[in-house]
Amino acid sequence: MTEVAVVGAGLMGHALALVFALGGHRVRLTDTNPDMLARAPALMATALATLVEAGEAASDQDRQWLSTAVRCIPTLEEAVPSAALVIEAVVERPEVKRTLYAQLETLMAKDAILASNTSNLDIFPLVPAALQRRTIIAHWYTPPYLCDLVDLCPGPETDPAAVTTVRDMVAAMGKVPVVFKQMVQGYVANRLQAAMQLEVCRLLDEGLVTPKDIDDSVIHGLALRMPILGIMAKADFTGLLLMQQGLKNRSYTPPEPRGKSETLDRLIADGRTGVMAGKGYFDWGDQTPEALFQERDRRLLALKQALRKIGPMEGT
Ligand SMILES: NC(=O)c1ccc[n+]([C@@H]2O[C@H](COP(=O)([O-])OP(=O)(O)OC[C@H]3O[C@@H](n4cnc5c(N)ncnc54)[C@H](O)[C@@H]3O)[C@@H](O)[C@H]2O)c1
Repeated sequence: MTEVAVVGAGLMGHALALVFALGGHRVRLTDTNPDMLARAPALMATALATLVEAGEAASDQDRQWLSTAVRCIPTLEEAVPSAALVIEAVVERPEVKRTLYAQLETLMAKDAILASNTSNLDIFPLVPAALQRRTIIAHWYTPPYLCDLVDLCPGPETDPAAVTTVRDMVAAMGKVPVVFKQMVQGYVANRLQAAMQLEVCRLLDEGLVTPKDIDDSVIHGLALRMPILGIMAKADFTGLLLMQQGLKNRSYTPPEPRGKSETLDRLIADGRTGVMAGKGYFDWGDQTPEALFQERDRRLLALKQALRKIGPMEGT
């Protein structure tokens, strides 16, 4: 059992606290926003209840167990010094992360490891020199108690032993670490997702399709094969000759990154920021985020359990 501090109790932080608690570790969760910290126990409890219901967590892992396994701590000063691993899950803004890392340098135990959950940032230039050897990126996917992939990237000065420690810890929790040799901005999954986001934003900005058209195309076509074949094995099944011809025949120019989307900007200006706000591309009615997450989790769990029985193609 390791003492883990999770800094940032938002969408990812509360869920990561739950993951590490389920992995047998003692967790201290903290956030500068008291409202976010106050919201975390209910979000974790709902997710945990869904896991118990599906047989993915033990029946005695109830609210009481959770309140001992994850302690919500109001200040960084109380949350961090006893931790051997500090997970950083604060907002994706370089200046916020830089300030936090400077605070962590003075608060973290001598040998403690700092693991950032950043999605896109090369955080290493933001980290004080004294922490460089003990800093790693450990990037999870939401919801991390259901998505098993964890991207691990060392920085230029990261001690290989820190990578091994985090890799082994993550693997022992039943997760699937992919260890990169160096910082690969966007990793693999987020790069592929970013390429899709460019297409999605352009299709919507040009008014060619609706959000539902996009999700119908993904859910009923693109994504169906992915859990079994991934992308590379799917290419083998399609035939590489067709892939080669497809490259030659391409009849439209893929979008260049423009750094913005009018549709996205308009939605955000209208307060439509996603499930936490009750609306985004879709209207989610007056259901609470807890209820929506639970519905999503139940469906993902059913899929995950079915896929576990089916398995990927042999030989990949
Ligand atoms: N949302 C995702 O699907 C996802 C997936 C993988 C990785 N990430 C990464 O995880 C990190 C957090 O993302 P999120 O979606 O959970 O964001 P979020 O906005 O839901 O939560 C961030 C939290 O950090 C808190 N915070 C800000 N400054 C802080 C500080 N100095 N100390 C403590 N808490 C502070 C905020 O109050 C907020 O509660 C980002 O780096 C993001 O790129 C997000």
